[in-house]
Amino acid sequence: MKPASLLTYPSAAFCLILAASASPRPLSDILKSFQLAAPQSPISLPNPFAGMPSEETVSTGVIISDVIGKTQSIAIFSALTRDIDPVSGRLDDASQNATVLAPDNSVMRDLKRKPWEDAEDYSTFGAEAYKGQDGEDRAHKNLRRFVERHIVPESPWEEGKKVQTLAGNEVWWEMRDGKQKIQPADIEVTSIADKVSNGQVWVIGGPLA
Ligand SMILES: *[C@@H]1O[C@H](CO)[C@@H](O)[C@H](O)[C@H]1NC(C)=O
Repeated sequence: MKPASLLTYPSAAFCLILAASASPRPLSDILKSFQLAAPQSPISLPNPFAGMPSEETVSTGVIISDVIGKTQSIAIFSALTRDIDPVSGRLDDASQNATVLAPDNSVMRDLKRKPWEDAEDYSTFGAEAYKGQDGEDRAHKNLRRFVERHIVPESPWEEGKKVQTLAGNEVWWEMRDGKQKIQPADIEVTSIADKVSNGQVWVIGGPLA
């Protein structure tokens, strides 16, 4: 049995949020470090034909949690999936399939708000919205919701099939003008980074927030 202190020990991102209650914008430091670590290269431009599922490339015995950290172009998002325990647990479970819709690093850098921020929190609580214990709880809840909006608890995921993400928002996908689009947000799937035994990692060109 684990000691209670271990069970309640916060994950890495949460620690940073906690640590940053004294100094503002904790996770932006992480984002900055990823900007340095993951420069956009023209070589990594998306392949327009990469969205087509093809069964023969599925790696057997390998699961999403093994591979998601290896794709440099989604390093920022994949780090967040590891920081949210219910999500990392899911991606690490070989018996539960998922399609991860991972915004690429440029999308994550260009978000209007940080993934743990919510305009409503600022209007309700003002500039101090993420200070103190309640603020930390809000930030963590928002971050979890952001990540869960990008996890479809199904794979293979058929075209046109409406499913709820882990956050409960409904999404489906369709081919339109040769492009694979996540609807209703109309976000393009620019490539499929991985196909493994418990699902797939798709790289998307916008946020589902
Ligand atoms: C999970 O994904 C694998 C790999 O694509 C597939 O073979 C299997 O049928 C899926 N299982 C379920 C329950 O969808």
